[in-house]
Amino acid sequence: MNEKYLTDIKSHWEDPETESLKDKNLQVIERSTIIEHLEKIKVSRLADFGCGNCEDTTHFSNYANLVDAFDYSGKMIKKASNTINANEKNNISLFKLDLINDQINNSYDTVITKRTLINLGNFENQKNTIVKICESLDNDGHYLMLECSKDGLDNMNSMRKIFSLDDIPMPFHNSHFRLEDLIDFVEMYFEVISTRFFSDYFFLTRVVGPLLNKEQPYRYDNLFKELSSFQLINRQIGPQFFLVLKKK
Ligand SMILES: C[S@@+](CC[C@H](N)C(=O)[O-])C[C@H]1O[C@@H](n2cnc3c(N)ncnc32)[C@H](O)[C@@H]1O
Repeated sequence: MNEKYLTDIKSHWEDPETESLKDKNLQVIERSTIIEHLEKIKVSRLADFGCGNCEDTTHFSNYANLVDAFDYSGKMIKKASNTINANEKNNISLFKLDLINDQINNSYDTVITKRTLINLGNFENQKNTIVKICESLDNDGHYLMLECSKDGLDNMNSMRKIFSLDDIPMPFHNSHFRLEDLIDFVEMYFEVISTRFFSDYFFLTRVVGPLLNKEQPYRYDNLFKELSSFQLINRQIGPQFFLVLKKK
């Protein structure tokens, strides 16, 4: 394993300038997709691994009795602490934890990772972490996994290429999943309850938007966010995917 690469990823998350996601419409779509499922499950003890600044965790905490939020970045933990205090959330506890090197000590009925496992450097670390998460779950517990795949990114870039738009590269600090390999692995531990892609949003914002207005490619993003709620496209376009997994 390339330790330097893992150190570079850590430095990225310790940089005060680093933002988890610049596209705020996408953040709302991700968050509401997860909340839709939290509403369906009766959540008592929730864990959010790789919670970042806890902006979304504060929303998730409205649907659980107790929330443990974990991150390995001191900078993120500080930001998260500010967010929790500013929102007066007293059911969230914050912990420093490195998913690669540390053990998970508590148990939960529901776990969330949102664009966290893509930062673990390689599939081996990702698989080990999925097993740790599974072990931390109660029987029949749910793992709500919102991560990114290379398949979706490639599909989006091949559409962009048709229209002479540049590739959108995978960020240096990410290792996107191969969806088929991931599903083969998770099926050993979990039942896959549902899968969702965010194809309409990515197609509209990353292909149609730049074609309509090359100088201002994000101009129609608010409208595209509304239109994407129809979920008309089945194929995965764009990196993000959401899996609802139930422990076997
Ligand atoms: C893309 S951000 C996502 C933050 C949050 N889940 C959200 O959706 O806004 C990824 C987060 O995972 C954290 N992270 C990356 N590698 C980690 C590791 N090995 N252990 C724990 N947290 C990690 C980073 O510090 C960062 O806060």
